[in-house]
Amino acid sequence: MEKTLVLVKPDAVRKNVAGKIISRFEDEGFKVVALKKVKLSKEEAGRFYMVHKDRPFYDELCEFMSSGPIVAMVLEGENAISRVRQIMGATDPSKAEEGTLRKLYGSNIGENAVHGSDSPESAAYEIPFFFSGLELVG
Ligand code: CDP
Ligand code: MG
Repeated sequence: MEKTLVLVKPDAVRKNVAGKIISRFEDEGFKVVALKKVKLSKEEAGRFYMVHKDRPFYDELCEFMSSGPIVAMVLEGENAISRVRQIMGATDPSKAEEGTLRKLYGSNIGENAVHGSDSPESAAYEIPFFFSGLELVG
């Protein structure tokens, strides 16, 4: 069993589809082992996305990710990291496959509805960024 961090981004929370996104992951067989709604400061968003600090979109990304509440969760399942990424779809919603969350709910390459850890190393940074061990309830 593998764990991954998923965020419902501010655009999707504003569209009131956080529940639909959580429900989709439940339907796909994942167990929700932690869940909360939080609002990041721009500085916190910057720390979360530190890996992108030299990219041209970093400042805009941090502004966006701190523009409203997000829903953070830890999902558990077989090959959770890659399966979640598949269900999310491509970073750019216009290039995402039909039926993926970004195709369904994303607006553009920045405001793309959902985040999922991209590797075990990312998950190991991202899960404790939001949750303590005590908050993971298998
Ligand atoms: O989220 P994902 O792993 O698919 O993409 P990423 O390359 O790790 O980029 C992280 C996030 O930065 C994306 O989900 C977008 O919100 C944003 N981004 C952007 O605004 N413009 C880009 N050209 C690429 C990414
Ligand atoms: Mg990424």
